[in-house]
Amino acid sequence: MNKTLVVVGSQWGDEGKGKITNYLSEKADFVVRYQGGDNAGHTIKFDGTTYKLHLIPSGVFNPQVTNILGNGMVVNVRNFLTEIARLQDQGFKCKNVFISDRAHVLFDYHVLLDGIKEESLGANLVGTTKKGIGPAYTDKVARDGIRMIDFISDDFFTIFKEKIQNKNKELIALKKEPLPFLPLYQEYQKIAEKIAPFVIDTISLLNQAYSQGKKILFEGAQGALLDVDFGSYPFVTSSNASACGVCSGSGLGPTKIDAVIGVVKAYSTRVGSGYFPTEFEDETAQYIRETGNEYGTTTRRPRRIGWFDGVVVQYSKMINGLTGISLMLLDVLTGLETIKVCSAYKIRGKTIHTIPASIRELEKCVPIYEELPGWKEDITQVKSFDELPENAKNYIRRIEQITGLDVQIFSVGPDKTQTIIRKELF
Ligand code: GDP
Ligand code: IMO
Ligand code: MG
Repeated sequence: MNKTLVVVGSQWGDEGKGKITNYLSEKADFVVRYQGGDNAGHTIKFDGTTYKLHLIPSGVFNPQVTNILGNGMVVNVRNFLTEIARLQDQGFKCKNVFISDRAHVLFDYHVLLDGIKEESLGANLVGTTKKGIGPAYTDKVARDGIRMIDFISDDFFTIFKEKIQNKNKELIALKKEPLPFLPLYQEYQKIAEKIAPFVIDTISLLNQAYSQGKKILFEGAQGALLDVDFGSYPFVTSSNASACGVCSGSGLGPTKIDAVIGVVKAYSTRVGSGYFPTEFEDETAQYIRETGNEYGTTTRRPRRIGWFDGVVVQYSKMINGLTGISLMLLDVLTGLETIKVCSAYKIRGKTIHTIPASIRELEKCVPIYEELPGWKEDITQVKSFDELPENAKNYIRRIEQITGLDVQIFSVGPDKTQTIIRKELF
């Protein structure tokens, strides 16, 4: 049985990572977020209540799980405290949550700069979540960020003063109002005091836990096609959302990763800009959007809808080293007469099975579809593969053939109970 398992988005995010992570966390000792920030919106439903998480790992509802915000994350500290307070109001003590001392702090000026950058791009905007993610990672890579360990230290006054001076030069050059240092410092100083008890050396803790044979689940945010290296650049997020980010974002080395499950919608969705090969917009798309409640968890933007894209999932298999699939939202397709599946792209008369590096090339790719018959029966209560209508079984089988991966888990509704495990993974 696997000791460490990565749950990774294999399309453009919102595949249902939160649901599956929470489900699998019952058997976990640790759940670790390794990248991103509160651009993520992970929805979890159990015992009649729906919860939405942005920064906090989806194992938080299980008191036996230690939840870690890894060093690869950029953490909006104000929003972290709000999220903790909300969970505490809902009855979860959150004594089991820790932040890496090496994680970067996401400040208000990052949010401001995200908005300014998007505005300046006009029609070419990325369509970010405007949570400051790009600017926070820009500072990190430019060796200009502030890490948690410095945020909670006595040196924060001096570090922050210099930072605000530099940010103000940037803002003035952009013809924007400069930021007032002292009130901002005082506000963040109070936040730092509240954050300090959460900040620890998570890298040593995780490696020690691994040596003791503890079970560790990694929860990806966003998805493979939004990865800054592997996604449809520049219409991507600013971190390594794919499984490659696990090591750099948590401090557990690559030899310690046992398995990687790709979370995949039974169709495709995307929010924000960028070419989306299987996208379509008609009555069927609208039906899928409403039935699947396809509105962003973080921004409430309507999600763009597309058919299942086998090229995307094969590419995701390659870059993530996927060992299996968790197929989500299968119930949403119930009632469709026929369902289209893309198994390859056509470009300049050639058939290809991978994602070109250039978005201009990608934009020329035309999906090659096959049509599979749909099913009418309600599947939201099925408890096994055998109980599915024949056409739903065939749909799953075809996805397995195209991707060369087993559908190890499938999901027929948002609730935790609507999860079917075909292979025990953890
Ligand atoms: P994440 O970002 O990958 O965690 O996914 P989101 O939470 O942003 O979006 C997934 C949405 O699908 C949420 O509203 C979930 O409650 C919902 N969901 C997850 N699995 C299923 C499923 O099998 N069927 C249906 N109908 N909804 C699901
Ligand atoms: P979860 O974890 C879907 C998208 C944005 C935009 C691009 C860059 O819930 O799956 P950013 O704010 O990160 O700079 O935006 O990435 N995006 C997501 N799309 N799910 C997410 O997270 C996303 N996080 C960012 O819409 O296109
Ligand atoms: Mg989401």
